[in-house]
Amino acid sequence: MYIGIDLGTSSIKVLLITGTGKIIDEATEEYPVYYPHTNWAEQNPEDWWQGTLTALKKLIDANKNIKDDIRGIGFSGQMHGMVALDDRGEVLTPAILWCDQRTSDECIDITKHFGMKKLGELVGNKALTGFTAPKILWLKKHHPEIFQKVDMYLLPKDFINYKLSGIYATDYSDASGMLLLDVQNKCYSKPMLEFIGITEKQLPKLHESFAVTGNLSDEIKAILGLSQDVIIVAGAGDQAAGAIGTGTVGEGVVSVTLGTSGVVFAAHDDYRMDSENRLHAFCHASGKYHSMGVMLSAASSLKWWSDEVSKESIDNLLIEVDNQISDVIFLPYLMGERTPYANPNARGTFIGMDMNSGRGDMTKAVLEGVAFGLKDSLDILKDMGVPVNEIRVIGGGAKSQKWRQIIADVFGHEIVGINTNQGGALGAAILAAVGEGIYENVYEATKVMIQTVDATKPDSYNVAIYLDKHKKYQSLYRYLEPYFA
Ligand code: XUL
Repeated sequence: MYIGIDLGTSSIKVLLITGTGKIIDEATEEYPVYYPHTNWAEQNPEDWWQGTLTALKKLIDANKNIKDDIRGIGFSGQMHGMVALDDRGEVLTPAILWCDQRTSDECIDITKHFGMKKLGELVGNKALTGFTAPKILWLKKHHPEIFQKVDMYLLPKDFINYKLSGIYATDYSDASGMLLLDVQNKCYSKPMLEFIGITEKQLPKLHESFAVTGNLSDEIKAILGLSQDVIIVAGAGDQAAGAIGTGTVGEGVVSVTLGTSGVVFAAHDDYRMDSENRLHAFCHASGKYHSMGVMLSAASSLKWWSDEVSKESIDNLLIEVDNQISDVIFLPYLMGERTPYANPNARGTFIGMDMNSGRGDMTKAVLEGVAFGLKDSLDILKDMGVPVNEIRVIGGGAKSQKWRQIIADVFGHEIVGINTNQGGALGAAILAAVGEGIYENVYEATKVMIQTVDATKPDSYNVAIYLDKHKKYQSLYRYLEPYFA
């Protein structure tokens, strides 16, 4: 038996599976996010820890008869957050989260210092406000007295690993989102560490996601009522762990997540970076690499349209959507955008209505606009020469057959679903199973545990019309860009 711990932004989920991927049970605990100022988002790492302990206790107490069979624990974690500890391992300051936007100035400082090209060469990615290095620079600038005391910087899930095992460890996939990792060569980037003003001693040791980093400590075993040895593997950032949970592992497999945000994730065997650095170039939890485009408002665009404007349930709105392709175009940049434009000031837009345009046309434009945003990332992947053989669509939005059909038509490619919706927690547990050695590698494990279901084929008539509409959609951003400054 293996436990996957998924440290999310609103809650922690723990999942118990067998070695063949059968889901036995799960438990969740919620915790708050604090927004002390505009653009800030923080959490208390102690809340994560108390939530983890409570959820683990619940899971183990509910499965007392099989608790002695638990062999390993893995993690999936919200990425990019900064946890700062002193030399006794005590938390020094609230964790600054992935969605916190306070570091625009620090991102400009980093980009000016290295230049875009060099930055890509050093760390594979642009300086984005969500990433960890600009947060450390912010701490140095605004709280030098705390910066002086920091003995260790951890990512969120690595704090939980530390509390469970007493060991400071991270993995390459999550570390890729720090802007401190030389992603291609899988080591910390010396020039970047120097510029930020920290040393490698203040960062956790790097591991593959399925590598054993330690064991559950005796103290925690006693609290949980376990007596056997339980290994702990490094785990992965939530996107990479989620990709393991959907079997997005071999070259040619792409997953598209239609959740609050929209993610296009491609696994590949070698390191690749697009020439303009629009996609994230990260290490994958499989031991290889991946590219990823992130749009900030995907299913949340439809939620906004339903809650704030239409005041009608999503189910009823979807009933009004017919098969006609209207002229209405929606740009889904309600919270700014990350891929392909990296512009926090971009905004949502409807254009092209006439006197016959009704609510159904507008709803359809929202569904299409999100699909176009995802296609932008898919097209960059294709431009990079990444093979796209199979597209797996997951997340809450993928439950709608109408939306799935629009995505297949906009992509001009068949899309498939998968037999589970456990995402990151399942990926985390799979990593623990691989760490214990019951599978040779992550690919072999996912072959046994994950199957594709429900293929949706593109309609060739719609594909041609959407090709043209996508071009118009792209040109609108270019026209409107000066307004989004
Ligand atoms: C990935 C990203 C999100 C966060 C929160 O780059 O920002 O997946 O990890 O879930």
